[in-house]
Amino acid sequence: MELTITWKSNTCAWVEFKMSNNKQLQQRKLAAFARGQGNANGIYIERAENAELWDVEGRRYIDFGAGIAVVNTGHSHPKVKAAVAEQLEHFSHTCVMVTPYESAVELAEKLNAAAPITAECKTIFVTTGAEAVENSIKIARSHTGRRGVIAFNGGFHGRTNLTMGLTGKVMPYKKSFGPFPAEIYHVPFPIAYHDVSVETALNDLETLFKVEIGPEDIAAIIIEPVQGEGGFYPAPDNFLSALRKICDRYGIVFIADEIQTGFGRTGKMFCMQHSGVEPDLITQAKGIAGGFPIAAVTGKAEIMDAPHPGGLGGTYGGSPLGCAAGLAVMDVIAEENLVERANEVGQHFMDHLAKLQQMFPEQVGNIRNRGAMIAMELVQAGDANKPDAELTKSLVAAAADKGLILLSCGTRGNVIRFLPALTIPLELIDEGMAIVAAALTKLINT
Ligand SMILES: Cc1ncc(COP(=O)(O)O)c(C=O)c1O
Repeated sequence: MELTITWKSNTCAWVEFKMSNNKQLQQRKLAAFARGQGNANGIYIERAENAELWDVEGRRYIDFGAGIAVVNTGHSHPKVKAAVAEQLEHFSHTCVMVTPYESAVELAEKLNAAAPITAECKTIFVTTGAEAVENSIKIARSHTGRRGVIAFNGGFHGRTNLTMGLTGKVMPYKKSFGPFPAEIYHVPFPIAYHDVSVETALNDLETLFKVEIGPEDIAAIIIEPVQGEGGFYPAPDNFLSALRKICDRYGIVFIADEIQTGFGRTGKMFCMQHSGVEPDLITQAKGIAGGFPIAAVTGKAEIMDAPHPGGLGGTYGGSPLGCAAGLAVMDVIAEENLVERANEVGQHFMDHLAKLQQMFPEQVGNIRNRGAMIAMELVQAGDANKPDAELTKSLVAAAADKGLILLSCGTRGNVIRFLPALTIPLELIDEGMAIVAAALTKLINT
């Protein structure tokens, strides 16, 4: 319920009560928003705390999505809130490219130190994940003087023109939005469950070098260490090390898109640390600042310094609120051992999912995780080649109906992804997974 006090004049006032419910708000939203910016649920949030949400009708939800891997430190973390509130007392914007401030310098120093790269690092700040990816390509092109970029089937890198071009999934990201930038090449991403081996993916890369573009013309290879929107498929370690060797041999810049996998999400500060393979640049957003819009590219100083002054940036890049939040998030991750916690959270989900797989071997085709990036792939007749997008969609809807926010993903639309706050209590996972089990049982048996 909304309470509005409207002053009519100096002498009289009236009080207006406005009831807002989900249905009305969804109607208003559909009328006010262009349909391209859709929403998965018609649930309008009034307040959020850690891994729980409350809607405008006072209904509580368990949140297994964390705003798509953004609030790794939980909704409304007191330390993040306090840091932003304090920053607001000082100033909200001066533009880091005009009159900078210490928090931006300190956050850049911390990101340089945390990056999974041994060499000296430097950072730039932007505002969104897509912008971070765009800038990483600009930096790689400026450093190498080359044009080509290699990305992967099923990869997701954003919705701007260059990042749409890099994204390897047509629906809903690319359909009717072309033409796309030239000189982007896609090769298979190895997924054993889908019979795409590391060997096949590397052979296709070799073929690309022979047929389409020589490796000497490639500026960068960009890869998500775990594909996010594409279906939560981890890149095999030996594939990442083979790519590293190719990049070293031909002077190609290796970019790890850590936008969804970063900041403790996968049980390491950055996911590339699982493989021991060092990228040249990493892109960061989402978990960096607990929901405040800031993003960054961090990488080897000699590569990062290639573009000329003024060639990179943006009005809001490195906003003071984002920097204050980012510094608080880094502290909370360390103080609350959230990198380790991601493994505990992931294991707890996997224990539940293993039971579900035993109960429904025909439908629960594959379960997997890297820390707290956890997935359940739904199929028909236990066949990896028969994705069940309908069941996936119905499960997301049935869960929301019972008070649980679930997200799906995958090029075939048949993966449920679990990516809660890393601070989620284990009891909430139990409660949420009981909803998943009951909803799945009902959907399968009716
Ligand atoms: C791996 C990856 N790269 C890039 C992006 C784009 O980030 P943004 O939506 O902030 O532009 C996303 C967003 O989901 C992502 O998961």
